Amino acid sequence: MDRIRIRGGRPLSGDIPIGGAKNAALPLMAAGLLTEDRLELSNVPALADIETMAALLSQHGIAVEADGRVLRLGGRITDTEAPYDIVRKMRASVLVLGPVLARVGEARVSLPGGCAIGTRPVDLHLKGLEQMGAEIRLDAGYINASVRGRLRGATIVFPFVSVGATENLLMAACLADGRTVLANAAREPEIADLALCLRAMGAQIEGIGTDRLTIEGVDRLHGARHAIVPDRIETGTYACAAAITGGSVRLLGARLEHLGAVARTLREAGVEITEEPAGLLVRRLNGLHGVDAMTEPYPGFPTDMQAQFMVLMSVAEGAAMITETIFENRFMHVPELNRMGARINVHGASAIVRGVPALSGAPVMATDLRASVSLVLAGLAARGETVVNRVYHLDRGYEAVERKLAACGADVERDPG
Ligand code: UD1
Repeated sequence: MDRIRIRGGRPLSGDIPIGGAKNAALPLMAAGLLTEDRLELSNVPALADIETMAALLSQHGIAVEADGRVLRLGGRITDTEAPYDIVRKMRASVLVLGPVLARVGEARVSLPGGCAIGTRPVDLHLKGLEQMGAEIRLDAGYINASVRGRLRGATIVFPFVSVGATENLLMAACLADGRTVLANAAREPEIADLALCLRAMGAQIEGIGTDRLTIEGVDRLHGARHAIVPDRIETGTYACAAAITGGSVRLLGARLEHLGAVARTLREAGVEITEEPAGLLVRRLNGLHGVDAMTEPYPGFPTDMQAQFMVLMSVAEGAAMITETIFENRFMHVPELNRMGARINVHGASAIVRGVPALSGAPVMATDLRASVSLVLAGLAARGETVVNRVYHLDRGYEAVERKLAACGADVERDPG
């Protein structure tokens, strides 16, 4: 198994290209199931999760043609099953449920299990589809969904914000009969990106970018071309890398308006972020200081940036309280960071981070995607050598992380295991 070896202590300096957002690309690929025509997606990142979604679409009968950063999808759905072997690799596979059901009136999708960061049920996805007239039966680890005729428009008020449920129901509603209202919908930039692409495919959607989406169902959608938004989590991650090493990095293609609370929190902590025509320039000229953060749905501080921000706070002056409100078990990086000399105590859903002058390199183990990259950041700031094991997690969400960092002067290499 590959490992990443980092010798810390070098300030990063240079340019880092920001790729297309993984969390936009996955639902956009699922949207390819909504039409027989060709959907052409550009700015697609080269990631393991994208390959998993491509394998799932192929399983459904969709032709997937990759040409560099462009993906062309098209064809008829010949198989309505999303098998366990694919879904277990990636929870976002459940995003095919709404589109397949809306297109052919039935779908059989393996229930995604729990994952390292929490139980992550899909009850909101299922309840919403039931409100739209679907019959749902759970059997032998599978969701069996069917509908007589078309799905019907409905008013769905989410009890709490879910990115995946909003996306699944948004896609299903595009082909439903009548009007669907999604209230208390998630409004992450990836959802707006999906909605814009659906609109280009002929869907009638109002309220894009707000927490209330109104969809008038249409009989069919057609092909379209769509460029995927830049990845705001990759942007935030490299901004933390620049800051933690006391460096200066230009994040090419990054968009300030998508960073939400991340930009505000980093600035408060002493990080300089400047908008430039090519992207964002991120620098740290002076010291870092402790700032509290609490994860929330967008535009609040994203749970997907919590681990990276915690590493930054672990070398800041003073203390920071970081509270995780989205997932119940997302502090698995804490013991590993403490082994590197961080002083972090977890009390329930909050972690108190007391800044230390420096971290020290150590062999560490990655447990999930964002935890893995936080250990890489810690390694960049640490004295001595850090070896991050189990980097397959990293390859699910970060393209060429070691090359992007090395191009900015980091001493980092991949060690094929
Ligand atoms: C998406 C992102 C993930 C991010 C998360 C929160 C993708 C592919 N993944 O995941 O990177 O960390 O948003 O920003 O875009 N929940 C339920 N029932 C449901 C659905 C969700 O209880 O039916 C709970 C979850 O367990 C979690 C919370 O709601 O506690 C939010 O989850 P959700 O927004 O749905 O996350 P995902 O779409 O899975």
